[in-house]
Amino acid sequence: MLVALAVSAALPLPARAAAGAAPATPGSLQVLHWWTSAGERRALNVVVNQLARQNIQWRDVPIPGGAGMGAGKVLKSMVLAGRAPEVTQLNGVIFGEWADLGLLLELDNVAVQGNWEKQMFPTVWALLNNRGHVVAAPLGIHRINTLFYNTAIFNRLGLTPPRTWDDFDRVAQALRRAGITPLAQSAEAWQVATLFENLALAESGPAYYRRLFVEMDPAAYADARMISILKRLRRLGQATEQPLRERSWTETARSMADGEAAMFIMGDWAKGEFTAWGLAVDQQFGCAPVPGTGDYHLYSIDTLAMFADDYSHQAAQETLAQIVTSPAVQSDYNKFKGAIPVWRTADPHMDRCARDSWRAFGKGQSYQAPSLVHRMATDETTKDVIIAEVQRFFLDRQMGEEQAQRRLVSIARALSRGRGQ
Ligand code: GAL
Repeated sequence: MLVALAVSAALPLPARAAAGAAPATPGSLQVLHWWTSAGERRALNVVVNQLARQNIQWRDVPIPGGAGMGAGKVLKSMVLAGRAPEVTQLNGVIFGEWADLGLLLELDNVAVQGNWEKQMFPTVWALLNNRGHVVAAPLGIHRINTLFYNTAIFNRLGLTPPRTWDDFDRVAQALRRAGITPLAQSAEAWQVATLFENLALAESGPAYYRRLFVEMDPAAYADARMISILKRLRRLGQATEQPLRERSWTETARSMADGEAAMFIMGDWAKGEFTAWGLAVDQQFGCAPVPGTGDYHLYSIDTLAMFADDYSHQAAQETLAQIVTSPAVQSDYNKFKGAIPVWRTADPHMDRCARDSWRAFGKGQSYQAPSLVHRMATDETTKDVIIAEVQRFFLDRQMGEEQAQRRLVSIARALSRGRGQ
């Protein structure tokens, strides 16, 4: 370790220098992530400040782009160029790939000391493990099946949040009559696919959902239920602004907060954003489960993985893992982030939306659905292919549901052949 340290201190680090960053010291950690919005920043600061109290500096590498669409690619190129960050936001099944290459620091000791296995939700614990080792530290659990609504508009028009898709149509009609766009929406692929994965869950529950996105079962895509999902998606397209623009999720959120649109389907980080803007739950905005998904939890779990490199940052990396999982930080961080803590014990500071999320997630695996968009269900490439196809269908009004279904079935066939199924 001493030798490794001496070597890394003696050698110039041209790649890092070229990127404009100072050479790393063991008392600082370079952290790559895609948390760039006001709410995300506020949440991160909880961690940054705690880390500073341990004399560890957080060296920020923010890569803008909702859902980490850019960050995944930047991370890959940094690792291939031999300059992996010490820490990275790395969500979902993808970190198994890095761990298999032997690149990630094993956090087994921190996990044992913190009693993670007993105290965390089993789904979280399972996600962190790769071949018997803990390879990431969890931050919080997001609920993607969240419908936000503008309370001033709803109250003025005497509307209540829709529980079914028929209700949704009625609410949308009333909104249109009042000259308000029913649904805030962006044309970005991941934001369109957010609707798609929600509709898939609403259509037939988590078992069918898993056949689609975890197993990539072509028969599930060929099923009549897929036609019904695509028809519903087409209808949702009529509830959005026209023409639809590509904009960031924060801009889409803003259009709901400003009252241009009345509803918004998005992960509950949007709640963190609204609160960072000074808006409050049940005052300026409300939250409800997406129609037809009230019993379920469509989840994305944020995690930090650490690149082992020469182990010179191990102590600081382990400290970071301890900090993010400590109950006090979990509570503060998740309050700002809009998510819920990963601990099974209820956090008394949760608001109404968070308590609802916590209850739904706590019902266990048969009520949970891993988000396709946020890499909880399958790998990055598979996810990218599916969401691009869904976006194409959503934006091209000429494409029929049967045609889109045929394309999805072919993709699922090719992908499952690739997996040797
Ligand atoms: C998700 C991530 C969230 C939030 C969101 C918007 O993938 O889990 O923490 O950052 O993207 O970019």
